Amino acid sequence: MISTVYAITLVGIGLVIAVFYFVIANSKEKDEDYPSITQKWYGVRSKWFIFLLTLGVTVSILSTNPFPTPDQKKEYSGNDYQNVTVDSHQWYWVMTPSTVKAGQPVAFQVSSADVNHGFGIYDEKLTLVAQTQAMPGYTNKLVHTFDKPGKYKILCLEYCGLAHHAMISELTVE
Ligand code: CUA
Repeated sequence: MISTVYAITLVGIGLVIAVFYFVIANSKEKDEDYPSITQKWYGVRSKWFIFLLTLGVTVSILSTNPFPTPDQKKEYSGNDYQNVTVDSHQWYWVMTPSTVKAGQPVAFQVSSADVNHGFGIYDEKLTLVAQTQAMPGYTNKLVHTFDKPGKYKILCLEYCGLAHHAMISELTVE
């Protein structure tokens, strides 16, 4: 992937150098009919501009990923979601319940009783799988579907005082 981007960049730089070289090499030539030529190329240039602008906007829209944060106003209830309430405190987590099922979306409702914390869910290899902020006065919603059963670690992702490092909990996925 990186090497493809690198190759495309090199080709792009090459094209720019070629155009510069062409312009410099031809800049000494005199032409009687200068105004009509500039007129003609201004036309081409504005068509190119519109074409490139349209292309750029289209590629940008098509390559955009869906917004990664779930709808915060939605009520994640009913049989479609498993709800877990997460309350964070200096320096512990209260998760109700702390056991969920794999394969069905879990809607975490995350809040804080005191200061800002970071609710981070890690798998057994300690790779971060999902995270959101835990803020006093707000309930942030985090929706995640666990593929694999196991013991997941909850770590605090934001420095929140003396025992921040000890703010660890466990989530069991069956
Ligand atoms: Cu809670 Cu850091």
